[in-house]
Amino acid sequence: MPTMDTVLTGITTTGTPHIGNYVGAIRPAVTASTREDARTFFFLADYHALVKSTDPDQIARSTLEIAAAWLASGLDPEKVVLYRQSDIPEIPELAWILTCVTAKGLMNRAHAYKAAVAENEAGAGKDPDRGITMGLFSYPILMAADILMFKANKVPVGRDQKQHVEMARDVAARFNHHFGKTFVLPDAVINDETAVLPGLDGRKMSKSYGNTIPVFLPENRLRKAFMKIRTNSQLPHEPKDPDDSTLFAIYKAFATPGETEAMRARYREGIGWGDMKRFLFEYVNDHLSAAREEHGRLLAAPDHVERLLRQGAMKARAVSRPFLDEIRSRVGLRPLG
Ligand code: TRP
Repeated sequence: MPTMDTVLTGITTTGTPHIGNYVGAIRPAVTASTREDARTFFFLADYHALVKSTDPDQIARSTLEIAAAWLASGLDPEKVVLYRQSDIPEIPELAWILTCVTAKGLMNRAHAYKAAVAENEAGAGKDPDRGITMGLFSYPILMAADILMFKANKVPVGRDQKQHVEMARDVAARFNHHFGKTFVLPDAVINDETAVLPGLDGRKMSKSYGNTIPVFLPENRLRKAFMKIRTNSQLPHEPKDPDDSTLFAIYKAFATPGETEAMRARYREGIGWGDMKRFLFEYVNDHLSAAREEHGRLLAAPDHVERLLRQGAMKARAVSRPFLDEIRSRVGLRPLG
């Protein structure tokens, strides 16, 4: 019998949202949230942020910026459960319970952990553990708790997070095997159609490459950022290859299919890079300006955002509190009489 989907996803609060996040995560999340046939949970993964950053102000600022970005982009907090992970004490408690049924060998295979070890082994000191915290090692278990707590069956994530969702599935199955059917086994949802945007230098737009364009930059700084996008040295009037152009890739992520086709023709006709940059900036700027204003209003009203998040947490806890009581009882943490 088909039941209603429960869709859940989180964003780690360590940075300022950029247009790659906007196109790849924020916009699809807002669209998904309008589905009538799904319950949606979106949260700010601030416990995960602690794994990646020891800068308290950065984490607090990023939490506000990302919440404001979601809201300004049209996420309706009446339609979705929007909350901050650290407002849900049931999550770390569940993470511990799951830790106790998770094989260490499974965690050893996590890509992010393995990459950190490999980098250490290649480095001068050869200490494989250098800079690796237990938070990094156990990161997939906390993520499993996020997902399993709300019985999510669909988890939209970037490709790099797919393995973590599969691990959540393994952990859930193991728990169910020991203690009886408790958790829903989640599936990652990877949308290959959502563009992975290139950044200023043509590589994937990513905070770690320092090539991002923050989505809600003030207009004059947004213009400057667009002018810096790398192009090749072809001259105006020379025919150009749209599929080898960062400017085109960004345009395509915002434009309609018809507009995209028309732009292909202009590339063939030899549109100049300067003209294309100005055109692209105007286009994206028009697309973003209303949301940018709203984002600014929200940043100036952090108490309002705080209130919305607390209301979201109340809705989330109405689910997590009773479910955790059931889980506790299953593993033997029970009232004695
Ligand atoms: N680890 C995810 C990321 O870095 C964020 C995240 C935390 C998440 N918990 C989650 C995503 C649960 C989906 C479901 O992108």
